[in-house]
Parts: sequence; C-alpha cells; structure tokens
Amino acid sequence: MAGGGAEIPWPCAGARCDDDRHERHPRIPRLARGRRPRHRGPDRGPRHLAPPPETAADTAAVRRIHLAAFGRAGEADLVDALRRDPSAWLPGLSYVADAPDGTPAAHALLTRCHIDEVPAVALAPCAVLPAYQQRGAGEAVIRALLEAARAAGERTAIVLGHPPYYPRFGFAPAAPRFGILPPQPWPDEAFMALSLDGSTPPRGTVRYARAFGID
Ligand SMILES: CC(C)(COP(=O)(O)OP(=O)(O)OC[C@H]1O[C@@H](n2cnc3c(N)ncnc32)[C@H](O)[C@@H]1OP(=O)(O)O)[C@@H](O)C(=O)NCCC(=O)NCCS
Repeated sequence: MAGGGAEIPWPCAGARCDDDRHERHPRIPRLARGRRPRHRGPDRGPRHLAPPPETAADTAAVRRIHLAAFGRAGEADLVDALRRDPSAWLPGLSYVADAPDGTPAAHALLTRCHIDEVPAVALAPCAVLPAYQQRGAGEAVIRALLEAARAAGERTAIVLGHPPYYPRFGFAPAAPRFGILPPQPWPDEAFMALSLDGSTPPRGTVRYARAFGID
C-alpha cells in the first residue's frame, strides 16, 4: 500500500487498517500530538508504517485480541458478525495496532449506525491484549481509527464505554450534550458522542447495526 506512512509513537509498531476491501487506505495520522503515551523506551521510538491489506492472520488475531481482553466470546463473535454484514461494516475503519515485536495487540472498529435516519459511526468493540494494556496501545489505535473516519468524511461517532476513558478523544455525554439518545436507558456518562468534523451532530435516537442485538 503506497503513501499511508506516518509516525506512530510507542508502544505500537504501527496502526493499520485490517481490511483490504477498500480501494484507498486512509492516511494514518501522526499520533505524537496530545498526551504522550507512557513507558516510552529507547527501543520503542516512533516507527513508520504502511498499512498492509487485511489477511486471514489479521482476522484470527483480531479474534484472539477480543477473546483475551474480554475473557469471553461475545465481542469476538460480534466483530465476526459485523464483518459479515455489508450494511454495518465500513471498509477501512477497522484498525489493528502491532506491538514492537510485531504481535497484533490492539483492535478498534467503527461500524455504521444511525441517529434517527442520519448515518453515524459506532465505536465498538475496542480491545487490547492484556499483556499490552495500560501502555497506550488502545489510545493509539483509537486515535488512528477516528482520524481515518474523519478522512473518510464521517461526521459523528458514538460510543458506549468506560466514562473516564473516552473523553480523551473528545467524546462527551451524548444525551445531555448533543441530544443524542441511546437505544436503551444507558447511563448518561457512559453513552458518548463526538463530532468528527466540528459540526453540530444531529439530535435523535441511535440505532446500532443489527449484529449488536440492541433494539
Ligand atoms: C479499555 C482498553 C481498550 C484501553 O486500552 P489500553 O491500551 O489498556 O489503555 P491506554 O493505555 O490507551 O490508556 C490508559 C488509560 O485508560 C484508562 N483505562 C484503561 N482501561 C480502563 C477501564 N476499564 N476503565 C476506565 N479507564 C480505563 C487507564 O486508567 C488509563 O488512564 P490514564 O491515562 O488517565 O492513566 C483496554 O484496557 C482493554 O482492552 N480492556 C478490556 C476490554 C475493554 O474493556 N474494552 C473497552 C470496552 S468500552
């Protein structure tokens, strides 16, 4: 893949799209701005990367990451189901970050959702192999993914997740801040939204892809 190189800070040897079904890989952003990941070591300086196409090994590695991170099959099965659903899967918006030794260590995914009838993207699930957690891998892969979504013209992202974690990417409580309501009565602080293009997101109720099983 040509022209996708960019600098990624420790701990990742690179963050890459794990899907070859799109024609043009998004440019991976320079991730050094903002908060610097901790535990940066002399052998773990910035690397350059060229996102390779998805391989069968990537698909298996993504499954391994989710199984290990969550300790159950639900999220790994969900990723596989999303991958099979062309109305949910967004080519180019599934990212893997490799550890310095080349081990695929982190994965994050954006799939199609809607706010009422307006298309948006849902960030879920995100996972890092336990041995690599708390070292910036999750942050690196999510930042790369959100930047790819911006480059692809996506306007609004939503996430249901750990309230202390996602605000670092700019997410804010969706209902009180934007009038974006969850499909189920989830806590305000855990259901968050982010404007990717700086515009005011649409108000309405979120509808996830069918694979999430949320009605
Ligand atoms: C959550 C997860 C993706 C974060 O990735 P990570 O690489 O471990 O985290 P990072 O190194 O990027 O960021 C570390 C920060 O995240 C915070 N964090 C990590 N996991 C957290 C959690 N479960 N709840 C709240 N905060 C968490 C840490 O406290 C730390 O905060 P600080 O920077 O203010 O000190 C990863 O820990 C993971 O896979 N966890 C198990 C699966 C999971 O819970 N997925 C997310 C579902 S919403």
